[in-house]
Amino acid sequence: MAILAQTPPMGFNTWNTFGPNINEQMLLEITDMIVEQGYRDAGYEYVVIDDCWSLRERDEDGNLVPDPEKFPHGMKYVADYVHSKGLKFGMYSCAGTRTCAGYPGSFDHEFQDARLFASWGVDFLKYDYCYFPSNGDGKQRYLVMAQALRASGRDILFSACNWGSHEPWNWMRSIGAHMYRSTGDIWDNFPSTAAIMTSQMGNFNANAAGCFNDMDMLTVGMGGQGNVGDSNCNTYGEYEMQFAYWCFCAAPLMMGADLRKVGEEYRTLLQHKDLIRLNQDPECRPPYKVRKDAGYHVFVRHLADGEFAIGVFNFHQDPRTAEITFAELGVPAD
Ligand code: GLA
Repeated sequence: MAILAQTPPMGFNTWNTFGPNINEQMLLEITDMIVEQGYRDAGYEYVVIDDCWSLRERDEDGNLVPDPEKFPHGMKYVADYVHSKGLKFGMYSCAGTRTCAGYPGSFDHEFQDARLFASWGVDFLKYDYCYFPSNGDGKQRYLVMAQALRASGRDILFSACNWGSHEPWNWMRSIGAHMYRSTGDIWDNFPSTAAIMTSQMGNFNANAAGCFNDMDMLTVGMGGQGNVGDSNCNTYGEYEMQFAYWCFCAAPLMMGADLRKVGEEYRTLLQHKDLIRLNQDPECRPPYKVRKDAGYHVFVRHLADGEFAIGVFNFHQDPRTAEITFAELGVPAD
């Protein structure tokens, strides 16, 4: 089996823009965009479908059934198309009895569902935490799905999504997840993004090759449109900060904007070579916080081949001036 997630996974997820309004045609068009507009070459790999893809009930054999109106040719057809473009295909389920939008979850169906996903050619599973039985053991059920995916005979990246419940940075790596959501859902505005960014500063050390802290899908380029859109959306500079911070912290880069519509400046940002190189640095070292000062934070991060990166992040919406000395960064000034 392949070793997955040696560096932070990169891709696209339907939820931020499309929410429940997903279908085959949209997914194929997004897949085409990823190839034609340079995202694949920039490193984006997984095309992931989120909640609301199935019928409301399982079939008589207990199998999940793709909604035939949304996916008239079924999921293997979509997977084959995605694979034909040199990309990988991701799907979604939930550790509870229902998904967050009320579709069937995988609780007590873990091995059956993992086998079904593998038979369709799925390469990635996002696994949510709604409708989890109150007397159940959440950690244990994530372990069960990790085992089910490994037993499926296919390399399937396990993207656990329990929103930071039970301090996942302490155990998700050990149960076999490759990434884990550490926060509640992002909204396309600066307060939401800044709250997520600051909430994870204490958890950087758990981030390493094989399993990464997922601060949620990017809203870069959404411009207030879509399912988690907000008329008071981020400015271009705030989107720049979001992308830079996700890259600096080696968070998975899952794009959430409608790639058929994003403007040139956002395409350039999402494909920023140096930031992506930082995100994908093979040593996967966490940032070190040098200083917090008047609303901004200074970090240094060691990279492979003797390079290091300096990150200065202002979590306020007004400008600040930052001063950093070489001594603080641990290097001689002359
Ligand atoms: C939860 C997750 C989101 C998304 C929705 C789907 O809220 O955190 O990322 O998957 O469920 O219903």
